[in-house]
Parts: sequence; structure tokens; C-alpha cells
Amino acid sequence: MLTLRGARPPSTPIVAVLVCGWLLVLHFYLQWDWFFPFSNTHTTSSPPEAQLVIASLKHEDTSWVRHHLPSWSHSIYIVDDPRAALTVPKNKGREAMVYLTHLIDAYDTLAPTTVFAHAARFAWHNDDPDYDSLATLRHLNLSHVQAAGYANLRCVWALGCPVEIHPHARASDAGPAAGRRAVTTEEIYKQAFEELMPGVAVPQEVGVSCCSQFAVSRAAVRARPRQDYVRWREWLLETPLADDLSGRVFEYMWHIMFGKDAVFCPSAGECYCKLYGLCNLRCDNNQCDGRYALPGYSTLPDGWPLVGWSGEDRDFAGPL
Ligand SMILES: *[C@@H]1O[C@H](CO)[C@@H](O)[C@H](O)[C@H]1NC(C)=O
Repeated sequence: MLTLRGARPPSTPIVAVLVCGWLLVLHFYLQWDWFFPFSNTHTTSSPPEAQLVIASLKHEDTSWVRHHLPSWSHSIYIVDDPRAALTVPKNKGREAMVYLTHLIDAYDTLAPTTVFAHAARFAWHNDDPDYDSLATLRHLNLSHVQAAGYANLRCVWALGCPVEIHPHARASDAGPAAGRRAVTTEEIYKQAFEELMPGVAVPQEVGVSCCSQFAVSRAAVRARPRQDYVRWREWLLETPLADDLSGRVFEYMWHIMFGKDAVFCPSAGECYCKLYGLCNLRCDNNQCDGRYALPGYSTLPDGWPLVGWSGEDRDFAGPL
């Protein structure tokens, strides 16, 4: 019989070298640490205690998450890049689409605590004297979140507390036909609430600190069936409301969805102490000395946190 020289099966040593090579490639690129249990990369067998879910646009820099919070697990959704590893069915409803997509897709594999946040490390609404999200996340007391179920990352009251929305006072029957002036969240909240929470009485007052960044326990998420999150995302996909309105409906509803009263405004001092371990501050209900102050503008100056509002140098103690 004719035997072709090139068709001989490869010898055992060659196979062994190839297999080892592939395992190494998989190990480094996919971080399949269990192939090499003796390796010194992170080999914790238990899942991370907390998972950070970030709503991002393609142009935003989220490298601070990996760099400064390496022990957290993170899911960074990029809403305007359909080819991103994590994205949303449609870029609609601002961060709400990301949060709902994560709640739906990760419902069965949630970490004990999930923190939902925006992509920018420095932003006017982050409850820190430097407006630094990292500073808040680093001090976040996960045991408190476990006990509380839901915690807003913002303790200061300005914007959202003590009451932001009176759903019954200004509910507009005219709906989108209300005329040429801009429709407010307050006017559309009642109808949205009835559609999202059928059978639940629409509250008289809704208050929660603004800006849609919060932490929830797995138990609080699973107090509802996954189907609720699916239904809410369908509402968001279908609503004719503009993104700022539909996003804000959720901004003033997450705390209710996760089991809190419609007005959820713990005193600022209590909140800083329980959530961030910042106790013994001098506070009134709304705010505490030396902590967050509402900035005059919603865009931080170029060069922040090293450069201040008037171009002056700032002392910034945190890592960059
Ligand atoms: C975190 O919260 C838990 C439970 O509320 C509390 O017992 C603990 O002292 C807190 N830890 C810090 C560092 O504040």
C-alpha cells in the first residue's frame, strides 16, 4: 500500500507540546485558572462578593474600574456599540436599559451584592468631596447593603429628597399632546407607574436621592421574579417617552422596585455612617460638613480633580 510521507500521525511528544501550548494560551487569555491551580493569579474559588455593573458609552474611559477595583467583578455595558462584549438590545432609556439587561441576564448568577453605576469616575453627582465614584465604592459597606437590601450611593439630599415627585398633583391627562412646552417627569410618572406596577397604588409622594447609582443585595433582586425585569425592559423598549423621561421614571422607581417606601430619604449623617463608615460627621438632615456640595455646574472643569473650578491647583489625595 502506498503511504504518503506527510500523512503520518504526529508523534506523541509533538502532540504533548501542542496541547500544553494551547493550555497556556487559554490560561493567559481566558484566565482559566483552574488549569493551573498553583498559579499565582487570583484563584479564589468562591465568586466575588460584589459585582459592579457600569453603564457606559463607547467614548467613556472605564479603565479605572479594572485598575483600582481588581478584586471586584465587573460588567461594563457599552450601549452604543452593538459589537461590545456586553451591550443592550437598544440604546434607549439611558442607564435603565443597562441595569434591566443585567438583572435579566445575570438573574441566576448574581453576586451577593450588585452595584449599579455610571462610567465616569469623576462626575458632579458622585457623593464625595472630589466627586470621585472610586472613593465611594472603596468604602462601601457591603454588609450594610446585605442587611438593607437596597442602598442609594448618594446620601446627600440635594436633588431628589425629601420629595421629588407628587404623582397625583400634576399628572397630565393630555399625555404627549400636552402642548409645546416640555413635559416633566412628574406629569408622566403616574401613568408610567401604573403601567410598570399594575395593581399597586400610585404613591402620593416619591423621594429618593438622585442620579441612579445604587447597590442591591441578591435577595432584594430575587424578591421579584425575573419576569418583572423582563416586563419592565419591554416597557422601556416600547415607550414613546424620550430617553430623559423614561430613564428618570426608573431613577425614581428603583428603590420602590427593590422594596423600599416611595419616600426613601434616610438622614444624610445616618447614611454616610452606615454606608461608608463615615460616622460622627456634623450634619443636618440633608447634608454633612466637609462632604458633598452641589456644584454650580454639571460639567467638572478640565483637569479635575487636580484643577479646580477657577483653574487653581487642587490637593487630591486619591490615586489616579
Ligand atoms: C458595616 O455594616 C455592618 C452591618 O450594618 C456593621 O456591623 C459594621 O460595623 C460596618 N462596618 C464598618 C467598617 O463600618
